[in-house]
Amino acid sequence: KVSRRRLLGWGGAGLALGATAGGGAAAAAIGMSGDTAPQAGDAVPFYGPHQAGIATPVQDRLHFAAFDVTTGDRDALVSLLKEWTRAAARMTAGRPVGEGAVGGLPEAPPDDTGEALGLRPSRLTLTVGFGPTLFTKDGTDRFGLAARRPPALVDLPSFPGDALDPARSGGDLCVQACADDPQVAVHAIRNLARIGFGKVSVRWSQLGFGKTSSTTPDAQTPRNLMGFKDGTRNISGTDTAALDEHVWVQPQDGAPWMVGGSYLVARRIAMNIETWDRAPLKEQEDIFGRTKGEGAPYGRKREHDEPDLNAMPADAHVRLAHPDSNGGARMLRRGYSYTDGTDGLGRLDAGLFFLAYQRDIRRGFLPVQTRLARSDALNEYIRHVGSAVFAIPPGVRDASDWWGKELFA
Ligand code: HEM
Repeated sequence: KVSRRRLLGWGGAGLALGATAGGGAAAAAIGMSGDTAPQAGDAVPFYGPHQAGIATPVQDRLHFAAFDVTTGDRDALVSLLKEWTRAAARMTAGRPVGEGAVGGLPEAPPDDTGEALGLRPSRLTLTVGFGPTLFTKDGTDRFGLAARRPPALVDLPSFPGDALDPARSGGDLCVQACADDPQVAVHAIRNLARIGFGKVSVRWSQLGFGKTSSTTPDAQTPRNLMGFKDGTRNISGTDTAALDEHVWVQPQDGAPWMVGGSYLVARRIAMNIETWDRAPLKEQEDIFGRTKGEGAPYGRKREHDEPDLNAMPADAHVRLAHPDSNGGARMLRRGYSYTDGTDGLGRLDAGLFFLAYQRDIRRGFLPVQTRLARSDALNEYIRHVGSAVFAIPPGVRDASDWWGKELFA
């Protein structure tokens, strides 16, 4: 039996007021309205109309996992999603998966693996998604979901230059774990995988660091591994009008169970770091159409000045990716840098794990990447090596709700 004091030890001061089951009160303690951004270490509210981890200010670290569902039993899948939701509500509040902390029955494995014991919630968010193969796989409708696949969840075509590794692509389910402490993010994915033993298996996963996008306009824009500010012109997590127009699924979009949700495109994009590092500064800047130091668009002085697309080379990344070049297409970028050591030839295996949220893939990533794949000057220095798309259901409203409840209704 664990004392109340011991339980409160999980998650630190921000949690002490609200260590109730599910952490709802803890979430309320730091402001459910979202207008008070959680500080480093705090808990991000788990319950709400949208899943956390999208409009949420970007945390420093990522552990992303794509899962294959190995059970063919719909009820087993449903009970897993319920268990995951319960565990996620607790972990995001900085609490262990089970009441017993590292305890439980002596003859059984502990309820929680324990490595987050004593760590703060670290703004952990867990965001779940459903891949196309959850709806139909090899022509079979395993879970009776085929008719529920949203039209906006399209399979991506193969783009020119794609070098996709099937072992780093696809997945029936995904979980994006973001936190300021990598141990907290890894703990969360590990425990969800553990809970899913026998029902799901990890298909691929990706660790990320040094957020490469900003969803908070006043914060300093982070830099990607090419050394450029990334996320200057992104959808801000507080711009509700832009979020409604470009990120959150709306009632008129034709998939009622997805209203309040979004669609995620994940791409592992490898960078030819050594070649890039030998490219002259002027060439690097021409490739983006922005200066490296300030991040100012060509023809302008400051980072946040309105870009003048005509001042940039015709094949500049920013010019081609800009909404004006793509019929107004916008998405919320939330990617992370990665390095996975070296490639055996002494080259860094590094790049950008690109994550973009949008209301409809056909009006977000698809037109933009179609243009970039064809003409972007950046293509000489990058390679898309992994790809996946997921429907991100709306938020979990309260402790009686669970991820996917409306999909399986
Ligand atoms: C802008 C880097 C891939 C879409 C930018 C900027 C940089 C950058 C430095 C300028 C700063 C900013 O506004 O954020 C990269 C790198 C990539 C990459 C290094 C690959 C390794 C992509 C991909 C897409 C994309 C695959 C979408 C298909 C955009 C968009 C903008 C942008 C929409 C903002 C354009 C604007 O409104 O001015 N990117 N990017 N990027 N990028 Fe990328």
